[in-house]
Amino acid sequence: MVCPEQLPPTGIQVIIVGAEGIGGLACAIECQNKGHSVIVLEKFPKLEILGDIISFGPNAGRIIERWGNGLVADRLRPITLNHTGSTWRRFDGAEITKMRTHGLKFGSPMYNGHRGEFHEIFFNFAKETGVEIRLGQRVEEYWEEPGKAGVIVNGQRMEADLVVGADGVRSKARKLVLGYDDKPHSSGYAVWRTWFTSEELAKDPLTEWMTKGDTHTGWFGPDVHFLAASLKQGKDISWVCTHEDKADIEESWSFPGKIEDVLKVVGDWDPVVQTLVKKTPPDTLVDWKLVYRDPLPTWISKGARTCLLGDAAHPFLPTSIQGASQAMEDGVVLAACLHAAGKDRVPLAVRSYERIRYERCRRAQRLGETNRDTWHKADFSTVLEKEKAGGMKLPTPPWLFSHDSETNAYRVFPQVSKDILAGKYGSEEIGNQTGICEKKLTTVSAPVTKQAEVGA
Ligand SMILES: Cc1cc2nc3c(=O)[nH]c(=O)nc-3n(C[C@H](O)[C@H](O)[C@H](O)COP(=O)(O)OP(=O)(O)OC[C@H]3O[C@@H](n4cnc5c(N)ncnc54)[C@H](O)[C@@H]3O)c2cc1C
Ligand SMILES: *[C@@H]1O[C@H](CO)[C@@H](O)[C@H](O)[C@H]1NC(C)=O
Repeated sequence: MVCPEQLPPTGIQVIIVGAEGIGGLACAIECQNKGHSVIVLEKFPKLEILGDIISFGPNAGRIIERWGNGLVADRLRPITLNHTGSTWRRFDGAEITKMRTHGLKFGSPMYNGHRGEFHEIFFNFAKETGVEIRLGQRVEEYWEEPGKAGVIVNGQRMEADLVVGADGVRSKARKLVLGYDDKPHSSGYAVWRTWFTSEELAKDPLTEWMTKGDTHTGWFGPDVHFLAASLKQGKDISWVCTHEDKADIEESWSFPGKIEDVLKVVGDWDPVVQTLVKKTPPDTLVDWKLVYRDPLPTWISKGARTCLLGDAAHPFLPTSIQGASQAMEDGVVLAACLHAAGKDRVPLAVRSYERIRYERCRRAQRLGETNRDTWHKADFSTVLEKEKAGGMKLPTPPWLFSHDSETNAYRVFPQVSKDILAGKYGSEEIGNQTGICEKKLTTVSAPVTKQAEVGA
């Protein structure tokens, strides 16, 4: 049996929309493990290997390592970035600082690698554990009635105890949950990104070092940063370049990018950067406009039979380096709350899921803005001296990385659900969110509630 951790059936039926994303798959695996019966619907007709570099923090590594008792982690390891540390440089190549990888400092390692390759491993594992994934199923409509919810797909009406919209930044489920269409806006930035094999870079003395093993280097300049990694013993290369782009675009995650446009921004940077850009196969370059959404006032419908998860609930800036990890934590917490509450109390489970996740997720989201601003707004004339204080290093907050979302969910569920039942949050109200994070519940006997900074 692939999944020895699978619990006895709970009878809770869950429909999850989105299997080509990390959030939906993680939720499906977790629900399956907790004994719920799961159907995942995905509009893509077949599994696609999409994207380039993605990062899973130690808080997600902890989740991954439980799957199949280490089986999934074993499959990921050969394709995971395996470096000893990162080097940060100024745009001209001068070294700013070095950081060692944190190894097992937070209990589990990070997993960084190709999004599509990682996703394929999760997808296959989900199927092995018995998750039913139906491809080529574009959900046309979400519906909810007292006591049940469902979707309409290919003209057919489906019904379940709970519908999870893990349907990404352009979520359709969001409209049912919010009652209105919520529009994204430009974040003011875009990312050029790519992934390719390193043969050409191995031939160039400037970049040969990257192809001898796994490396991770960042270059920083005014309102621009450029991060490059070599993986699979230096055989694969990925780089991302975040820069200002005020274009007001339709929400779409990617367009083809142009090498000459990148050179307009970093053409006079460290010759290593120039070489990386010039030797990039043009057809691999993606121009990804970063859209932003204000935090949603709620992730769950009034009847609490439909909920959002992952990017549908909370799009992340890449500079938070937590988008996929937080999507995964959502799935863990939702599955655990459903398990703890039982089939007769699905709405209570869903309300608890939102309470447990909301504020923690906001905190992680904010890191995306603060990291970017720290990097982009540095005084580059003094950065080499000042950096001895370490201000540009990636933050590694223990509240984020040491968190065990599953243990925490089971621990706080009794109190959170009791407070919801006692009307402590005015639980039917939309737009009156409070978040519960582990710290508040473990350090005080009754949870301290605080108005979440919605729209902050
Ligand atoms: C194609 C793609 C490439 C990406 N590449 C990167 C990357 O390289 N690096 C990185 O850091 N992040 C990347 N991301 C973002 C990253 O994957 C997400 O932040 C993370 O996976 C969490 O997102 P999610 O699972 O919530 O949603 P998503 O990954 O957006 O998945 C949503 C899923 O829902 C499906 N769906 C949407 N509407 C419907 C519908 N009506 N009916 C049925 N199915 C539907 C979509 O097809 C998709 O499979 C990418 C996202 C996408 C969609
Ligand atoms: C990671 O790198 C170390 C040191 O170079 C090496 O010993 C180890 O085998 C590598 N791990 C994998 C999975 O490639």
